[in-house]
Amino acid sequence: METLLNYENPAKNIKLNQMKYQIKITKTEDSAISKMDFNHLPFGKFYSDHMFVADYINGQWTNLEIRPLAPIPMHPGNMAIHYGQSIFEGMKASRDAEGHPLLFRPEMHAKRINKSAKRMCMPEIPEELFLEAVHTLVRLEKAWIPPQKGSALYIRPFMFATDETIGVKPSDTYKFIVFVMPVGPYYTNPVKLLAQDKYVRAVVGGVGEAKAAGNYAASLLPAAMAKNEGYDQVMWLDGVHKKFIQEVGTMNIFFVIGDEIVTPNLDGAILAGITRDSILILLRGKGYKVTERQISIDEVVQAYDEGKLMEVFGTGTAAVVAPVNEIRYKDHIMNINPDNFKIGPMIYETINGLRNCTIEDKFGWIVPA
Ligand code: COI
Repeated sequence: METLLNYENPAKNIKLNQMKYQIKITKTEDSAISKMDFNHLPFGKFYSDHMFVADYINGQWTNLEIRPLAPIPMHPGNMAIHYGQSIFEGMKASRDAEGHPLLFRPEMHAKRINKSAKRMCMPEIPEELFLEAVHTLVRLEKAWIPPQKGSALYIRPFMFATDETIGVKPSDTYKFIVFVMPVGPYYTNPVKLLAQDKYVRAVVGGVGEAKAAGNYAASLLPAAMAKNEGYDQVMWLDGVHKKFIQEVGTMNIFFVIGDEIVTPNLDGAILAGITRDSILILLRGKGYKVTERQISIDEVVQAYDEGKLMEVFGTGTAAVVAPVNEIRYKDHIMNINPDNFKIGPMIYETINGLRNCTIEDKFGWIVPA
């Protein structure tokens, strides 16, 4: 199959000999890749052979190394465990027909982790360090990128406090780690959502915009309650009025109402999804009427009752584009048939096509690893 990517794009291609940081590499003598079955890949269960690790000590990132993936010893007084300074990113590597490893908008993730770091009073990771860590690890682990459609190499960069001190203050030391995992789709079936009117995820001024580990912990009880009632996830409403839709526990959310595609505006309490941003750009480029605005659950119920709720889909790195087939809010049960969706499947195919270079990337989003 013809590849549509320019591998010599000098602005995008980080070349090994141009790297600013010295990363020590120790390779495993016991690769697990021969045990992998890429045709049966659950999300989040299998790890590749290596991880990148760096320490933040005395105001500097140091000890940069890639080494065999292994547990990291931890003191019981570790501040991340007690006070929650822990943030992460989720990104994906794909491959083209010839097996070249590719990244999707990696610089956006480098920027977003630093936004999270700022909010959680953690040090920034220089963007070049973040990118060099990701590029070097993905190049080393390129055999772990599954070729199957819908599968990818999920990349998990994360940073957490490592001071061993009891007392509420920012840690002085941190670890920045990146590991990668071959994954299949996060959702294998259409998703059922329960709109949550008791618990809230975030309020403006809180930490909802940060990709902080605690945000996911806070979602677990309502998500477990939703599961008990037969729903896959919670759809969060705003923390003040419990009326305006924010996001889903694992992804941003889009509604097609009549001829308008609506997604909640980034009000300061919503995670600024990179897949969300990409989809907005793609849809606008294709001429759709796309609006980022407040959307209340009552508006969705009314649109459903009037037969105008055409599609609902979630978007995220892990989920990519996940069709929603049911939303419940109080006594309102809204069933939507994904077999009739047009925009969600089209945008899913577009993102996949960009990722494997069968659709031309006019945006410079796809970067050789
Ligand atoms: C991602 O989409 O990458 C996330 O971090 C969300 C999580 C559900 C895996």
